[in-house]
Amino acid sequence: MPHSRILGTGFAVPDRVVTNEELSALMDTSDEWIRTRTGIQERRWVREGETGVDLGLAATERALEMAELKPGQLDAIIYATSSPDHFAPGNGVYLQHRMGIDTIPALDIRAQCSGFVYALSVADAWIRTGEYRHVLVVGSEIQSTGLEISSAGRHVAVIFADGAGAVVLGPAGSNGAGILAFDLHSEGAHAEKLWVDAPGSMYHPRVSAAQMEAGRQYLEMDGREVFRHAVVRMPESVLAVLAKAGQKLGDLKLLVAHQANLRISEMMQKSLGLGDDQVYNNIMWYGNTTAATIPIALDECVRSGRLQRGDLFVLTAFGSGFMWGSAAVRW
Ligand SMILES: CC(C)(COP(=O)(O)OP(=O)(O)OC[C@H]1O[C@@H](n2cnc3c(N)ncnc32)[C@H](O)[C@@H]1OP(=O)(O)O)[C@@H](O)C(=O)NCCC(=O)NCCS
Repeated sequence: MPHSRILGTGFAVPDRVVTNEELSALMDTSDEWIRTRTGIQERRWVREGETGVDLGLAATERALEMAELKPGQLDAIIYATSSPDHFAPGNGVYLQHRMGIDTIPALDIRAQCSGFVYALSVADAWIRTGEYRHVLVVGSEIQSTGLEISSAGRHVAVIFADGAGAVVLGPAGSNGAGILAFDLHSEGAHAEKLWVDAPGSMYHPRVSAAQMEAGRQYLEMDGREVFRHAVVRMPESVLAVLAKAGQKLGDLKLLVAHQANLRISEMMQKSLGLGDDQVYNNIMWYGNTTAATIPIALDECVRSGRLQRGDLFVLTAFGSGFMWGSAAVRW
């Protein structure tokens, strides 16, 4: 079966920069607290009217341009988001429509911060079986409209942000470049440690004024528990995916991890014994954009030359679910 390979990458973020100082005027927090605990210096939030699909489309156009493909040459769309523009249908169909292309399949994946890695694994499997040739994988989120922007929500509101990244996958050639292996996990016992309770179809009705008054529509997080699990699960998964791919940690050129929190990345780097030049971080400028952090970081690495042909790199993610996983890739 043919491997799949990344043919192009792209990302898009809103032009509205939200600084820590700006947040400090809206809630009881400070630039010093946010930088020290999370590493974040600023993030991007959408203006009213700008949607997740707008960002997903802009990221897609850049990825297609790098891949030297036209939208009509795509065979399938996989769209990872935990914050779709609507409860149903998912964002994938809107993206298909906005591109004005044929009636290709469009699958939304809800795996939150791990969404991009999960989506990539499905795209890779579709290509390996020969079912589809060119598959678009998008990770895009609008978190800012679901945050409690007040002192009550400050432990979450200062972290999350908006953005989109995309990659185009196609069959690999014979030079060894491509996706080598995946390692994916979930542990639902921790589902409510990072979640959005409502609206939910288990409630009658699924959305009510009482829920809203109680603030159950906001993203809620037990930060300490998320931290505790993330710093164990991501390194574990990095080692597992390298073993599956038959590669050694010593051969790793770059680790592109989900940008949850700079402190989590630093602890992971330390526990894996990696050098500063082996780990890429950009949370300082974008915050945590959930399913979009990895494709945004990947595009920056590709365009800045941090990744060169033949380099071995690993993508790793951890988040709500809990769900986590990694991909080992040769560029
Ligand atoms: C969120 C996080 C930064 C909080 O740091 P922490 O050291 O665990 O802080 P705590 O939640 O224990 O809170 C410490 C104090 O800071 C306060 N605090 C919380 N958010 C604050 C903010 N934005 N500004 C100022 N103070 C804040 C708390 O109210 C608490 O005050 P108290 O001691 O008077 O009760 C940290 O838990 C974390 O990074 N967790 C992982 C989050 C993450 O990565 N999520 C995404 C995963 S995909």
